[in-house]
Amino acid sequence: MKSPLRILVLYYSRHGSVETMANKVAFGIEKAGCEAVLRTVPSLAVPSIIEDRQQRADDFEDRQKNEGTGDAFVTEQDLKDCHAIALGSPARFGNMAASMKQFWETTSIQWLSGDLIDKPASVFTSSSSMHGGNESTLLTMMLPLLHHGMLIQGLPYSEPALNATLTGGTPYGASHVAGLNNDSNLSADETELCIALGFRLAQTTRKLNQ
Ligand SMILES: Cc1cc2nc3c(=O)[nH]c(=O)nc-3n(C[C@H](O)[C@H](O)[C@H](O)COP(=O)(O)O)c2cc1C
Repeated sequence: MKSPLRILVLYYSRHGSVETMANKVAFGIEKAGCEAVLRTVPSLAVPSIIEDRQQRADDFEDRQKNEGTGDAFVTEQDLKDCHAIALGSPARFGNMAASMKQFWETTSIQWLSGDLIDKPASVFTSSSSMHGGNESTLLTMMLPLLHHGMLIQGLPYSEPALNATLTGGTPYGASHVAGLNNDSNLSADETELCIALGFRLAQTTRKLNQ
């Protein structure tokens, strides 16, 4: 039997909102018959990346023991092996988080070898305020993907939740408004749009790989 197409769900999250979204996007991907590979990036918000790697490795072990969850750091091989990418980051002053941007600045080798050319990609974000830059964050996240030659897919208004939502959700990609208390519970519409984002990305990936 042919193995399913692999879609990398690459995200950064400090307080859990983007991670929650990543899991919903992954659910949509798997619903459409592709494999979702969840990966994250090291945080720059601690004194050293090495220290953070250790911390995350410890967290990963604890979380696996406690909940059976926890995502590893992305590798060069993940980029090579994937057939598409769903990219998630919190809004940071209207831009993607430095930790995610830093990761993309380590991908010159993949850019030179064209590993990501003509692979589809979608983006998702979480912000604390409604009009505090979630759309601009999604747009900034598209830029490195376009430099890599990826094909960006957003969300069309045929998705009923895009018309209905009173919080997150944009045609540029899925979003969540977490509020000042960093509430990582997604609204029903935000959840639906995360699942739709993953589902549509997987459907496109399948069409391109027929
Ligand atoms: C340095 C910094 C900058 C931020 N910039 C924005 C911003 O421009 N707009 C906004 O609405 N929220 C901003 N936030 C809030 C986060 O985007 C928000 O809390 C997000 O939900 C965090 O995602 P996470 O729970 O996955 O870490 C900022 C937070 C920090 C720490």
